[in-house]
Amino acid sequence: MIYQDNDMRSETAGIIGIGSYLPEKVLTNADLQKIIDSSDEWITTRTGIKQRHVAAQEEATSDLATQAALSALQDAETNPKQLDMILVATFTPDTMTPSTSSQVQKNIGAVNACALDINAACSGFIYGLAVAHQFVVSGAMKNVLVIGAETLSRYLDWDDRTTCVLFGDGAGAAVVSKTESGSGILNWHLGTDGTYPKENLILVGSGSISGQFAVPERKRNYLMLNGKAIFKFSVDILPDVITTIVRKSDLTLDEVNVIIPHQANRRIIESAAERLGLSMEKFYVNVDRRANTSAASIPIAMVDARNEGKLKKGDIVVLAGFGAGLTSGGIALRF
Ligand code: ACO
Repeated sequence: MIYQDNDMRSETAGIIGIGSYLPEKVLTNADLQKIIDSSDEWITTRTGIKQRHVAAQEEATSDLATQAALSALQDAETNPKQLDMILVATFTPDTMTPSTSSQVQKNIGAVNACALDINAACSGFIYGLAVAHQFVVSGAMKNVLVIGAETLSRYLDWDDRTTCVLFGDGAGAAVVSKTESGSGILNWHLGTDGTYPKENLILVGSGSISGQFAVPERKRNYLMLNGKAIFKFSVDILPDVITTIVRKSDLTLDEVNVIIPHQANRRIIESAAERLGLSMEKFYVNVDRRANTSAASIPIAMVDARNEGKLKKGDIVVLAGFGAGLTSGGIALRF
């Protein structure tokens, strides 16, 4: 693992507004049972997932991202013209180029913002927050919009019953700006292990070496997952990310009010809680309703947690992500 850590700066930057968007269509386990050989009991026991949202045919990733962005901007009482940068974390972009973020920039009229995409899979939103944080604390920028958005349903093989039940579509966003000293993002921690076998979690698509992969042509546009291998990686990395970011931030686990992990699978989160000796009460979980929305999962969970009164102003929060790459990342913040 190559780790990058933030050295604390004197300026502080943090999240001043959040928003999310979930497509209208909901696919329950009972609905899935009609198209694949599976059951609500199997999916619920193995994953904790009961339903997922699925984008309409005409909805692009940028459309989901735009709705989440508008909601976050309203929450932050920030005008799109005040944005200096837009970061969209996704591995299901509208097109390989131009970027999805450039479409969002157009959609929301953020005429003063530069825009770029980040591909760090399920850790993408954490990576985006860390980048935004650095631009704001350095004084280079005032307002950065970070979005996680995915249309994973477009890349699911509905004949692969082990993988297709796990994922959903959605978007979440946050506005990062200067905050009062002692509040905002306290620290971040990012890691990547590029040596991990890519085949365990891959979407080959039309990448430059797509022809070199020993993947049947039909499967290239599908997300492929070695469930057991990724489960093992996830149960190791999640507690590791949480303890690392807590230590780097000079906090104790007791001082953390809520941990919002990437929502991949309830069992992965339960395993992390057990390893850390924490009650599940400390963790916010919405995977039952949202499934795994990759880069969108953490910001969607933040909005849901706030709506349920489980994320409050002033709370010490740990965000923890992990995903293909293999990537991982943690953020500690005072909300
Ligand atoms: N419905 C019913 N039966 C199924 C299904 C299904 N949807 N899928 C697989 N099965 C069957 C298998 O065929 C197998 O049957 P067999 O024993 O007769 O061969 C049996 O169930 C067990 O299959 P396993 O693959 O061993 O199931 P496992 O207990 O490993 O659970 C799962 C699979 C849920 C995918 C698990 O490995 C997992 O959660 N992995 C992590 C996935 C994940 O969330 N990754 C995160 C995504 S990427 C990221 O966010 C980092």
